[in-house]
Amino acid sequence: MNTILVGAQWGDEGKGKIIDILSAEMDFIVRYQGGNNAGHTVVVGKKEFILHLIPSGILHENKKCVIGNGVVVDPEALINEINHLKKHKVDVDKSLLISDRVHIIFPYHRLFDGLREEKKTGKLGTTKRGIGPCYADKANRCGITMADLLNKELFCKKLKVNVEEKNLILEKIYNHEGFSYDELADRYLGFAKVVKRYICDTAIALNKAIEKGKSVLFEGAQGTLLDIDHGTYPFVTSSNATAGGACTGAGVSPNKIDKIIGVVKAYTTRVGEGPLPTEFDKELMGIIQKKGREFGATTGRPRRCGWFDSVVVGHSVLINGLTEIALTKLDVLDDLEEIKICTAYKYKDKVLKDFPADIEVLLNCKPVYEKMPGWVRDTASCKRYEDLPPNARRYLERLSEIVGSKISIISVGSSRRETIIKK
Ligand code: GDP
Ligand code: IMO
Ligand code: MG
Repeated sequence: MNTILVGAQWGDEGKGKIIDILSAEMDFIVRYQGGNNAGHTVVVGKKEFILHLIPSGILHENKKCVIGNGVVVDPEALINEINHLKKHKVDVDKSLLISDRVHIIFPYHRLFDGLREEKKTGKLGTTKRGIGPCYADKANRCGITMADLLNKELFCKKLKVNVEEKNLILEKIYNHEGFSYDELADRYLGFAKVVKRYICDTAIALNKAIEKGKSVLFEGAQGTLLDIDHGTYPFVTSSNATAGGACTGAGVSPNKIDKIIGVVKAYTTRVGEGPLPTEFDKELMGIIQKKGREFGATTGRPRRCGWFDSVVVGHSVLINGLTEIALTKLDVLDDLEEIKICTAYKYKDKVLKDFPADIEVLLNCKPVYEKMPGWVRDTASCKRYEDLPPNARRYLERLSEIVGSKISIISVGSSRRETIIKK
């Protein structure tokens, strides 16, 4: 079964946990877009791992973990992550494959990301990992790929052209001294020696494996509403986090895909700027942030929280063609007496059921809510769907009905055993 797993909201839905569970049955786990802006948490026993670039399947033995062509790679961050995993006895060398087509993040990408964020207007609240500027160079056809890095002469030529151009911009617009080409070339050729062993044509490896009947899990990073085409532009990331991105970002045809799972949080969160129509008031924000430990896995920033938004998730079901939903963090709502579900937006005198493209509409719309009684009981110990309190089941059934997709996995805690697989 080749499965794509995507975030169905604004990221941090708990993809890492669900990927880790599904990985047990898979042969290959593939990241296909984004970079180390992602932070995927996997809890194994008492240990918590946060994966930024390496697929969350890495904690299972005998799996191939692939960084596909659609990802942007910061080699320094990658090497740190590899070393961290090795320290915890994870056999990265046996598992990891990196596409020779990935684009490489350089310090000037990170700097541009930070400098743009410091400007008074247009702040997006990025992770400042250089993701946007690196994808911009890719689209501008001046980016540097892993294949380039392994070809010393070509790499040096391309880096020189880039450094010269970037330094001019830095000097003229930002009054910044810029970068030394020699220093950068030395550093990156040093990184090349470390990562060379993992580099190959991963599209060929994946297609050959699929041909032999192996199963592949495509691990989306970020979420549908952060997708550069289908999200809340410009408050998005710079890649296609939606299901379509898995095929271009891994080099596997859509006709090889069997299942598309959307990971959905039982409420809504987002990090960074941009519209969040169902955002809580201060009191409830504090309560849910604390109970849900809603602080970014990459930057540590508090996540903004709000009620479940079915306009958002309905949009996700449609754009990704979700065949099912894995619903996470149900336990975080355990103490609430009353729960609200946003079923539509009101903008001026109109009721909107479809997710609007106009950012001004989104920023000024009012959610239309349906209220449901809470269950006020712990769910973390529930092992089967039938063990869940009746009001929790009603909540899940109503969500499923409104967004138009079945819920097949329910997560009630961060550990592997706190998971209900619905029969
Ligand atoms: P990702 O980016 O989608 O992989 O999600 P993150 O790892 O950034 O954030 C999800 C957080 O919620 C992590 O701290 C997980 O350990 C935690 N988590 C995942 N599922 C559950 C759940 O069902 N209940 C609770 N309480 N925490 C969960
Ligand atoms: P995972 O995979 C949540 C957000 C940033 C910012 C916007 C653009 O853990 O779900 P970028 O650095 O990508 O240019 O930032 O996207 N963002 C995320 N939010 N989870 C993520 O990843 C995110 N990756 C980026 O906060 O609003
Ligand atoms: Mg995350």
